Amino acid sequence: MGSLMGVDQFVVTGQAPAILLGIETSCDETAAAVVVRDEAGRGTIRSNVVRSQFDEHAAFGGVVPELAARAHVEWLDHIIAQAMDEAGLGFDELDGIAATAGPGLIGGVLVGLITGKALAAALGKPLIAVNHLEAHALTARLTDGVRFPYLMLLVSGGHSQFVLVRGVGDYQRWGGTIDDALGEAFDKVAKLLSLGPPGGPAVEAMARRGDPERHKFPRPLLREARLDFSFSGLKTAVRLKAEALAPLGESDVADIAAGFQAAVVEIVATRARQALARWRTELPEMAPQLVVAGGVAANRALAAALAAVAAEAGARLVVPPIGLCTDNGAMVAWAGAERLALGARDGLDALARPRWPLDDPGMRLADHAA
Ligand code: KG4
Ligand code: ZN
Repeated sequence: MGSLMGVDQFVVTGQAPAILLGIETSCDETAAAVVVRDEAGRGTIRSNVVRSQFDEHAAFGGVVPELAARAHVEWLDHIIAQAMDEAGLGFDELDGIAATAGPGLIGGVLVGLITGKALAAALGKPLIAVNHLEAHALTARLTDGVRFPYLMLLVSGGHSQFVLVRGVGDYQRWGGTIDDALGEAFDKVAKLLSLGPPGGPAVEAMARRGDPERHKFPRPLLREARLDFSFSGLKTAVRLKAEALAPLGESDVADIAAGFQAAVVEIVATRARQALARWRTELPEMAPQLVVAGGVAANRALAAALAAVAAEAGARLVVPPIGLCTDNGAMVAWAGAERLALGARDGLDALARPRWPLDDPGMRLADHAA
């Protein structure tokens, strides 16, 4: 594939600085960014443009995949042009093009990946087909220079999982949700309480005014030792309570929101405590580090609980700025830069994948090594 792209002559060493364009279209954000990775492995964001499709989907109460794909088609070129413009760079100054290749809504992923392939082919630059979860996982190295290994808690609208990040391409999943993602649970609870959108921030704002003790909602799976989550039973309990109390006054809504948030905070904090205990057993010689990623990292009650758990376990807690926890192009560009520095690049036959777990053997760099 290299010959098709004319990149056979392209030599990348771990020491060379690299400028990457990153493209993200896997859900409802159309995003592009330019990131520089210097010789020492430090990252600088030169531009980071995100267009949320909030308005397109608002009337439907959730992301409509077909509408998302169309909006990506309509906007991506402009977003890329703006990212290049804000970075003050021409396309010929790039060292590579990174595009999210999954997991995500396949129509949108295809739009971004094909655009990335077209740019890579036209410019004769390497393409890096980035796993969206890897982009979330490596963001803390861009923002805080975190060294391997660390434990990532990813809590977004589409994912909730603990992953041990051992190196670029080297991930071990320690647990995750068996049904809804945490952000999805916030969004569904918001909808049944007629809050938002966006759901998560609306539930959090309401919860702050409510009494978390009035309703004791279940903490599914919590008695089991596994590091998994289940939020769908909790959501059903919230729905049944809301139906039983209907019509809901404002304090009813606030108390239900507070009770729900107290339950999820206890669930996630307990799992984080258990995950750090597992760290002590399995990596006793390494100082524990917990990195939070995904949009739910914006929740202040959750962040405070995680800070307490980390302090109690003597672990370093890293929460990147919220604009880099939610979906963005900078994390994709950075993941591309990290992989490129290790010699990885992908062919124009790289697949767009609706599912792509982080511990997929294809993620390992030995498979890509130059
Ligand atoms: O990472 P993200 O922007 O998108 C992906 O899912 O990839 O995460 C969005 C999710 C939504 O479900 C949203 O409701 C949730 O993060 N969220 C929050 C808060 N802010 C955003 N959930 C709870 N509390 C918040 N303050
Ligand atoms: Zn995401």
